Amino acid sequence: MKVALFGAGRIGKVHAASIKMDPRCELVAVTDVMTEAAEALAHEHGIAARRADEILADPSIDAILIASSTNTHADLIEAGAKVGKAIFCEKPIDLDLKRALEIGRIANTHDKPMMMGFNRRFDPNFAAVKAALEAGEVGKGELLAVTSYDPAPPPVSYIKVSGGLYRDMMIHDFDMCAFLFGMPKSVMAHGSCLVDPEIGAAGDIDTAVVVLTYEDGRIATIRNSRRAPYGYDQRVELLGSEGTLEARNEIENTVVKSTAVGTVSAKPVFFFLERYMRAYAIEWSAFVDACVEGKPVPATVQDGVNALALAEAANLSFREGRPIEITSAMTGA
Ligand SMILES: NC(=O)c1ccc[n+]([C@@H]2O[C@H](COP(=O)([O-])OP(=O)(O)OC[C@H]3O[C@@H](n4cnc5c(N)ncnc54)[C@H](O)[C@@H]3O)[C@@H](O)[C@H]2O)c1
Repeated sequence: MKVALFGAGRIGKVHAASIKMDPRCELVAVTDVMTEAAEALAHEHGIAARRADEILADPSIDAILIASSTNTHADLIEAGAKVGKAIFCEKPIDLDLKRALEIGRIANTHDKPMMMGFNRRFDPNFAAVKAALEAGEVGKGELLAVTSYDPAPPPVSYIKVSGGLYRDMMIHDFDMCAFLFGMPKSVMAHGSCLVDPEIGAAGDIDTAVVVLTYEDGRIATIRNSRRAPYGYDQRVELLGSEGTLEARNEIENTVVKSTAVGTVSAKPVFFFLERYMRAYAIEWSAFVDACVEGKPVPATVQDGVNALALAEAANLSFREGRPIEITSAMTGA
């Protein structure tokens, strides 16, 4: 399978490495509006940097991987679909739910695989929680707690264009809840600015708790913070009728030191590139499985719309201080 990469930034480089690792595909072109970035990455992989329009017009290219800035995703999905490419796109589809719903409709009629980059579904720890839950190993899931703290806040310049904490950061956690428990009935959001007053001045929050309630009474909670001085804190705890499942942090090493003072172990790995490197490779391999072997796409455009609908509902809930019902008009499903 011949693949072209859009976006040679942080995550584009990770995906280029995943493509290289899978023997069923070949990275044949890279494009970026910053031509130097495209050329440097292309050079590293012994291939050419090309223009986006050339890539889209090239019938020998089977798939495009969209890892460019968020505001380009919807247009590139649309352009790729028009020329019949298989498409892998980083989250989110767009910051605007209406635009995401349009892309959802395009995905429904596209006859090639289209997948969203919800990498956490492919993290072996979270995937094991899902497998154990589905196998009934802890009975029926009742309470879900998702914890997601970044090590340190991004610059305020990033915050200003990010779409806000719920759409930028918690989108992954909304998807984790949907992955493990399905779509909730309603969303109640709380938020505060405790980490950096500049984030508050930019109109955003840096600390948040969201409660999702389900039609059958199940409850999920998500806790986010833009700061955890000990590293990237990514955990899931699920209480079922017959036991619990707990996915803990991956830590820098497994040494536990015990002395007269106490017992200490290493910190969690620093951030997403360290924590999710395996997940990115497994995720790409799942996309190639869909393209080459016709397997189902494990993170669909509808999943992307659903997560964005939950983020929009959280924004509204936070603004208005009340729970928001999730309707089919919000998800298009
Ligand atoms: N799933 C994850 O874990 C994860 C992690 C990081 C980023 N992301 C997502 O990936 C996307 C990229 O994030 P990043 O951190 O790599 O950002 P980045 O700024 O490092 O890289 C983005 C690159 O896209 C390029 N670009 C902009 N417009 C373009 C266009 N029209 N065509 C081609 N290239 C274009 C930019 O010049 C830049 O080099 C974002 O949407 C982000 O939300 C996902």
